[in-house]
Amino acid sequence: MKRKDLVVGIDVGTSHVRVIVGEPLPDNTVNIVGVGLSSSQGLKKGVIVDLDKTTQSITSAVEEAERMVGFDIKEAYVGLVGMNVELVPNKGVVAVTSEDREITGEDVDRVMQSTRVIPLASDREIVNVIPRQFIVDGYDGIRDPVGMLGVRLEVDALIITATITTLRNLMRCVNRAGIEVSGLVLQSLANSEVALSSDEKELGVFLLDLGGGKSELSFYQHGVLQSISVLPVGGNHITNDIAIGLRTGFETAENLKLEHGCALTAMTEENEKLEVTCVGGKDRQVVSERDLAGFIEPRAYEVMQLMQEEMKKMGWEDMPPAGVVLTGGISLMEGITEMAEQVYNTSVRVAEPQFVGVKSPIYTTAVGVLNYVIKSSGEGIPEKKEGGSGFLVKNWWDRFRNWLNEIFE
Ligand SMILES: Nc1ncnc2c1ncn2[C@@H]1O[C@H](COP(=O)(O)OP(=O)(O)OP(=O)(O)O)[C@@H](O)[C@H]1O
Ligand SMILES: [Mg+2]
Repeated sequence: MKRKDLVVGIDVGTSHVRVIVGEPLPDNTVNIVGVGLSSSQGLKKGVIVDLDKTTQSITSAVEEAERMVGFDIKEAYVGLVGMNVELVPNKGVVAVTSEDREITGEDVDRVMQSTRVIPLASDREIVNVIPRQFIVDGYDGIRDPVGMLGVRLEVDALIITATITTLRNLMRCVNRAGIEVSGLVLQSLANSEVALSSDEKELGVFLLDLGGGKSELSFYQHGVLQSISVLPVGGNHITNDIAIGLRTGFETAENLKLEHGCALTAMTEENEKLEVTCVGGKDRQVVSERDLAGFIEPRAYEVMQLMQEEMKKMGWEDMPPAGVVLTGGISLMEGITEMAEQVYNTSVRVAEPQFVGVKSPIYTTAVGVLNYVIKSSGEGIPEKKEGGSGFLVKNWWDRFRNWLNEIFE
């Protein structure tokens, strides 16, 4: 396999850094050939707070993936946390230029460019523009207008902006780890590639990424991302609550949570006893699984309820037709699906990548970055590279790379 054929995705999370190396396949899917995982040290609540530690974590995950694939990784696409990100809807319009009025990839590129003219605070940058629908001579709901005939091409787009500080810190850590950033992919967009079916995205669905430092809510309908909201609360807070409640160390509390944690006290056994070392290591205490769940339940419930408030702000008192999909490490916890079903009163399922070696919701974002890039750049479907929206996004990635070089060098 030639290394230039491979695509690398990195997810810099609060708990772990994950590096995934994938080979694009002709059917626009991916074959995963390398994985690197390291525990993440420099982030709090999804945000980088220590550049050196984050760089070290990225370096060790990259090295692990490199050992697996047998060559040096030079560039990668990186997931961007939804914190400090804004979604701005905007419209663009252009006249179709060709004499025969057939819409080309170039027209699509121009109309997408025209949406980028928005008032922007000095501390923000546009990181991506997603077309929600194209409108050709007044006919709306078009996903790919290339090849259609028309005079006037409009686009209804979603502009993603992020604070320059967030981008700069992420870029700096990845660069210091010896990797050039080929592009950034919003984590919500990456997650949806792995976690949601096209039917769910069409009908309306909430996707909840329950991570270590934050919980990220995305709402999809009519096939596209409509809104996002990020709460700076995640699994680390649960671990913290257990540590305080049982007066034990953070590591012991984390292991208890991983091995015996359950989100609903009603699902635990009172007579399942666990021996726990107190902080300092001198005394020991015996607690039941129910006692442990007693520390987890209120925090998990709080996150679910705060998310419900966000859902209401997005206009959903009742749930959308496709319900709720959970992913992220906390979705592995026993009882979390049942709790979500009780709170949201709808169908809830857990999503994870369907690949050997990364078949866990902790890999959803990293695998999703790969899937998103391969799908949007038309890699693996060479005939689409010269036309179609794949062409457009390919141009976009190139422009993105130039822009990154301009502001970060
Ligand atoms: N089997 C499990 N049972 C319970 N909790 C789990 C399990 N596996 C992982 N977790 C928890 O999931 C959290 C990590 O999730 P994840 O790996 O998705 O976070 P992250 O992507 O690194 O962080 P973030 O997205 O918040 O920046 C941790 O709190 C961890 O304890
Ligand atoms: Mg995450």
